[in-house]
Amino acid sequence: MSEFVPVLSQTDIQERVKSLAHKISVDYSGKRLVTIGVLKGAFIFLADLVRHISVPTQIDFVRLASYGADTKSSGKVRISKDIELDIKGKDVLVVEDIIDSGLTLAFLVEHLKTFNPLSVKICALIDKTERREKEVPVDYTGFTVESGFLVGYGLDFNEDYRGLPDINDLKV
Ligand code: IMP
Ligand code: MG
Repeated sequence: MSEFVPVLSQTDIQERVKSLAHKISVDYSGKRLVTIGVLKGAFIFLADLVRHISVPTQIDFVRLASYGADTKSSGKVRISKDIELDIKGKDVLVVEDIIDSGLTLAFLVEHLKTFNPLSVKICALIDKTERREKEVPVDYTGFTVESGFLVGYGLDFNEDYRGLPDINDLKV
């Protein structure tokens, strides 16, 4: 039977999201921002984040498929839904739920650069450090955890548990 170990409460998450949004608003002060959420996992985080960002912000999404439904990324990434906004000359902020091996984000950043944005930065709610294979500069990190398989607040295990309001470590 699966067991849920609480890791981050709704309050922890909301406070952190607000302070990230504040930092982003200061850093991009006087500029316009295009946030790109990575579906599906980042949909709740992005929705909460943009409501606290005070600079003009446009929103787009990508959907990436990593082959295989497992708790570990296979490393082979493909784009199943690309951006729709024109990001040429724009300041882009990629919003991701969790970075694990780093392979997904490394691939995405390279892809986005082919559209010639002015800048590309990364905001990840959770930086999971233990299995990092590819160093990716994360500019805004919500929380750092060493290991575990986290679900809730957008994060899934085989598409389940995304709607949980807090974040738990799923012990299968
Ligand atoms: P990476 O390419 O290994 O960095 O994997 C990143 C993607 O794997 C994330 O966008 C998540 O969809 C998924 N992932 C990695 N770790 C977890 C986790 O602990 N819970 C839920 N999804 C995860
Ligand atoms: Mg995901």
